[in-house]
Amino acid sequence: MIDQLAEHEASAIAAIDGAETLDGLAEAKTASLGKSAPLTIVQRQLGSLPAEERKEAGKALNEVRRRVEARLDARTAELAEAERAARLVAERLDLTEVPTDVAVGHAHVVTQAWEELEDVFVGMGFRIAEGPEAETDWHNFDALNIPPGHPARDGFDTIYVDHGPPGSTLLRTHTSPVQIRTMLDEDPPIHIVAPGRVFRRDTPDATHTPVFHQLEGLVVDHDISLADLAGTIEAFTESYFGAGFHSRLRPNYFPFTEPSAEFDIQQPDGTWLELGGCGMVHPNVLRAGGIDPEEWTAFAFGFGIDRLAAMKFAIDDLRELFTNDVRFLSQF
Ligand code: DAH
Repeated sequence: MIDQLAEHEASAIAAIDGAETLDGLAEAKTASLGKSAPLTIVQRQLGSLPAEERKEAGKALNEVRRRVEARLDARTAELAEAERAARLVAERLDLTEVPTDVAVGHAHVVTQAWEELEDVFVGMGFRIAEGPEAETDWHNFDALNIPPGHPARDGFDTIYVDHGPPGSTLLRTHTSPVQIRTMLDEDPPIHIVAPGRVFRRDTPDATHTPVFHQLEGLVVDHDISLADLAGTIEAFTESYFGAGFHSRLRPNYFPFTEPSAEFDIQQPDGTWLELGGCGMVHPNVLRAGGIDPEEWTAFAFGFGIDRLAAMKFAIDDLRELFTNDVRFLSQF
């Protein structure tokens, strides 16, 4: 019987070592230790042996079983590790093979100008403010000293929104309502710029688009003067356009400022380009923003970001900014 055991052990070990997969090993386990395995059959036969022989054979059988089980455990660990390693190799993503000739996009020329303007003004001590694109008639007009029937309303080709009483909601025609919202939200001193999208019912041509972008500035503080406004515009001009560029103010009219001016940028070749509007904030506007005009003074300015970008990059048709022709956009 002992000889027989050695033979069964050898074939069990051979089956275990021969298994190449965990499934194969499960079969080897059944074959060597399962119900109809030779070792199990031997075990069942032990009972029919004489007592002395049974004890010895039983001990030998136990040792064989223990060795077979140990070998089974070792092979299980080996195969599990091999299968895991194989799976990792199979699932690996080769990130080195990203093609290098793919065209990578970049920010739109208007976005570039917008972000650069924010950097320049933040560098000068301004914070960025925001307001909604769908605005109330009150914030866009009344609060800015443009009451119903004021001729300045006709100057804006306003797009109204079907919301609330007729004429009460519109797509903001300028970023100036952000002045009102900021004053109502915060106590002075206030130093903000508000870049944003604005809308007018315009037929697109080289110098007009129905959707465009503006940047609004507002400073509310003690003893603010027109000199502070002119100095701020000049500092911005040099900082954004570079050395050799200068600015000037020309008298103009806006309902929300008094006095009001238009500001122009002088290029190094001496030519002047009109950029935006500005002025000392009208007392009615400060009051609409909940600020006492006896205690505080303020200046404001506003200009078109698209027009500024067009100026900086010598783009002669604003419609190019909206047609999304990659051949055009990739130049900037
Ligand atoms: N809101 C004016 C426009 O869209 C631009 C403007 C002019 C803004 C004068 C100002 C300002 O803040 O003081 O035409």
